[in-house]
Amino acid sequence: MRTPVIAGNWKMNTTPHTAADLARSVAERTSGLLGVTKVVCPPNVCIPAVKAALHGTDVEVGAQNVHSEPTGAFTGEISVGMLTELATHVIVGHSERRSLFGETNTGVARKAAAAAAGGLKPILCIGESLDIRRTGEAETFCKAQLRESLEGYSAWDSLIIAYEPVWAIGSGEAASPMIAQVMASAIRDEISDIAGQAAAERVPVLYGGSVNPQNAGPFMDRPDIDGALVGGASLDAEAFSAIVQITAGPISP
Ligand code: PGA
Repeated sequence: MRTPVIAGNWKMNTTPHTAADLARSVAERTSGLLGVTKVVCPPNVCIPAVKAALHGTDVEVGAQNVHSEPTGAFTGEISVGMLTELATHVIVGHSERRSLFGETNTGVARKAAAAAAGGLKPILCIGESLDIRRTGEAETFCKAQLRESLEGYSAWDSLIIAYEPVWAIGSGEAASPMIAQVMASAIRDEISDIAGQAAAERVPVLYGGSVNPQNAGPFMDRPDIDGALVGGASLDAEAFSAIVQITAGPISP
């Protein structure tokens, strides 16, 4: 059984003060919702405040990016070792990193491997553009992107994949649960090809792209979708917590 994951990607929003408030509110609203891993991914500068605010709660902290080298002359970057005291997860290969900051599959693969080697759980993002979807090649594209972004990867127990079609991110137009399920299943097939069936069965595959409390339910009902990576709605504690609630199911007594 895979434990579902609801992760919030706060992107370049919040300050240390407002981030701590948001984190506290998420923890309060989701306490008692079991059977789902809850993760918030603030900007790096906010991570210490969020970590402190979440002390004693079951909400985990993730980063939005990391460098693959352990130390050195990489101005402006942060390493896995800097994060491990503060975070459990890290997003790698988000489409905004790929499109706005020139990240390649090769670089993403290095980050994922370094993260896992250092004890962080990578949330590896893949997804096709609208142009690619229109050509009918979305599945081929995503499988290749996944394979190249996992080159040299071996820590299958700590990997999380997020399928985030670029056209659905921040657009208000989520993919249909059917499209997401078909791709999640294709992703699992590809992992099975790379690492075997047992690994494929263990890796949570999330959907991301305009997820909100109104549309989350049908995604979670699909057999290969194990949660969501939430952008915009994760900045609203009530909305994010509602998505956690929908994923968790009945409240424990
Ligand atoms: P969105 O972002 O929920 O605002 O579409 C998702 C993401 O970029 O991870």
